Amino acid sequence: MGVLDGKVALITGAASGIGLATTQLFVEEGAQVAMVDRNADLVNETAREIGSSAMAISGDVTNEDDVAAMVATCVERFGRLDIGYNNAGIAGTAPIHDHELGHFQHVIDVCLTGVFLGLKHQSKQLIAQGEGGSLINTASINATQATKGLSAYCSAKAGVAMLTKVSALELGEYNIRVNAIGPGHTETPLTARARDVDGFDEAMIGATPLGRLGLPNDIAQMALFLASDASPWVSGQLMYVDGGITVNELPPGFNLLEAQPRQPRAD
Ligand code: NAI
Repeated sequence: MGVLDGKVALITGAASGIGLATTQLFVEEGAQVAMVDRNADLVNETAREIGSSAMAISGDVTNEDDVAAMVATCVERFGRLDIGYNNAGIAGTAPIHDHELGHFQHVIDVCLTGVFLGLKHQSKQLIAQGEGGSLINTASINATQATKGLSAYCSAKAGVAMLTKVSALELGEYNIRVNAIGPGHTETPLTARARDVDGFDEAMIGATPLGRLGLPNDIAQMALFLASDASPWVSGQLMYVDGGITVNELPPGFNLLEAQPRQPRAD
């Protein structure tokens, strides 16, 4: 018996990284999953490997016709929708003064508008079914923490966090829960280039209380919690899954104080 027995999920960005790990976990827990990705070859291959509980849909989350068709195809094949996971995302760095408008807009289109379109068409289906459901969005620790060079990405992810709250307000009356996940630095193809930078991994690990980078399955476990009946009264939240790195907000120098315990002054 799995915690998602009989449930149908649609996951975007499902051919790789966090989306793929979540698909695998959801299927293990009894769900049928419509795997959406713009990389048609990869999503076909990964869905075939997972088996008959998974279906590949190639499409672009920035295209409204594609997004409407994803939901329709999922319902046609699996009969319904219970869980939407808007997870597709891209990154890319550039300093503000040199940021090409087209690049900035592309990141906003995929990471923020793509989530809006997913929420729109998935919620329409859930409302029509009349039995509630769970919608999940992938934000980031960058929804609240600024990083140099990531103006588009950080702005998009902050937008995802707010879109999640507004959707939770609007959809609560239909018993549709909407939450976001804020992953910390997780080992996926998206972060491969950053991990090639000398000293990057060490710096990230050093700032992470749990002392390691994230794995895709760490994030998938939170998606499972939010998708399942284990979270019936959780909505509108941004759930960080980050090894604790977001509590480390001051410059590392402050942590040196730990080595110099001092009693409070008596006066
Ligand atoms: P990934 O690159 O392994 O997977 C992303 C998938 O999204 C790819 O298969 C890609 O083809 C697909 N995709 C990209 N644009 C698309 C579009 N327009 N339409 C449909 N599919 C599209 O990346 P990862 O790391 O699994 O990222 C998943 C999500 O997690 C993203 O939203 C990312 O911003 C977020 N995230 C990742 C973190 C990390 O450290 N890996 C940290 C915080 C957030």
